[in-house]
Amino acid sequence: MEPRDIEGDLTEILIDEEQIRARLAELCRVIEKDYAGKDLLLVGVLKGAVMVMADLARELVHPITMDWMAVSSYGSGTQSSGVVRILKDLDTDLHGRNVLIVEDIIDSGLTLSWLLANLKSRGPESVEICALLRKPAAARVDIDVKYLGFDIPNQFVVGYGLDFDERYRNLRSVGVLAPHIYA
Ligand code: PRP
Repeated sequence: MEPRDIEGDLTEILIDEEQIRARLAELCRVIEKDYAGKDLLLVGVLKGAVMVMADLARELVHPITMDWMAVSSYGSGTQSSGVVRILKDLDTDLHGRNVLIVEDIIDSGLTLSWLLANLKSRGPESVEICALLRKPAAARVDIDVKYLGFDIPNQFVVGYGLDFDERYRNLRSVGVLAPHIYA
């Protein structure tokens, strides 16, 4: 879906398809160097990370395996509470594995902070993070992101995996949702 297909729902296109593609390619070249000669397990966090996982995995010139987790943050509405419940766990034993967590966005950072500690406790060789987007102004905990796509303003963004009420995930760009949609 293109921004023109939902005209009026966005106030702005923040990052378009080509910018995403180019930035992911840059990140992949760095990842390939960092993991040369090593196994690499990509762990995607459902559902938002589906698009970035699919594009990152295909761009990598490196044998990888993929696994998925679904987590849910306890708490009300759109605010992360930091208390996370596992809805779907990994199928993979992490002992001795090099794990790269793949996320669409770091907002408060609470989800990743919890996930990082959880995965590190499973005996992996290494755990790093790759996130397409980060909102520095929304950060409540400091997260060490090794591979970051873009820092963005603290606005309600949708597209490329990111939803509002499960909609807009299939938008090819990342855009700012018009207030009349969520008001
Ligand atoms: C989003 C996103 C991250 C999390 C980031 O997921 O994919 O997992 O929120 O927020 P935080 O940094 O404040 O913890 P969401 O819970 O919206 O679920 P979804 O991926 O299914 O859309």
